[in-house]
Amino acid sequence: MNRAIKIKLKNGKIVTIRRIRGTDYDTMMRFFDKFVRDPSTKYTSQYLGQPKKNKESSIALYDDTNNLFVGAWDGNEIIGISSITKILPKNRKYRGLSGETGTIILDKYTSKGLGKKLKSIVEKWAHENGVHRLEAGVFHKNVRSLNNLIKNGYQIVGIKHDVAIVDKEWMHEYILEKILD
Ligand SMILES: CC(C)(COP(=O)(O)OP(=O)(O)OC[C@H]1O[C@@H](n2cnc3c(N)ncnc32)[C@H](O)[C@@H]1OP(=O)(O)O)[C@@H](O)C(=O)NCCC(=O)NCCS
Repeated sequence: MNRAIKIKLKNGKIVTIRRIRGTDYDTMMRFFDKFVRDPSTKYTSQYLGQPKKNKESSIALYDDTNNLFVGAWDGNEIIGISSITKILPKNRKYRGLSGETGTIILDKYTSKGLGKKLKSIVEKWAHENGVHRLEAGVFHKNVRSLNNLIKNGYQIVGIKHDVAIVDKEWMHEYILEKILD
């Protein structure tokens, strides 16, 4: 995705979607700071009090052409992100064919069609950039995310038991994948 686009959410709000670059680091940190205060953080890997992401490595991550980070903006603030990072093992039989993907949106902007739109943008980029298989990991209690991924063509292909503890309860992580034609 090279240029910004504007989309209308189900509540009529217009948001701008464009690629996140290293220069967006401060805006990204403000976004994470807000997200960890949201109720929807509970069943994700993010948490309140998590250390701030390192500036240099974040900039390198966002600007790496093997990855795509896409953000949705309401005015000057990021309200949701979706990403794909190519999996790049040394073994060239596997190299670059799979990508890890994830999407997080501020609670106030969820369930309004934004997740679906962001996912379709990152998938298009993946397809055009040689990624054939997408993989996502979701806690078993994250029903909204599971519904969202399954509706978007992902299948559950595995489960990791007891990967984390949330409110004294063990979380299992479903592994979902989507093969891009
Ligand atoms: C998971 C997430 C990315 C989905 O994005 P979204 O913008 O809320 O979802 P959309 O509005 O595009 O909805 C797409 C589908 O998801 C499902 N969905 C959305 N909201 C839902 C809800 N509250 N309950 C159950 N399913 C829901 C529906 O199947 C929906 O299809 P429909 O529009 O035909 O009803 C978003 O809710 C989010 O960021 N949540 C918090 C962080 C998170 O859990 N991230 C993923 C795991 S790390």
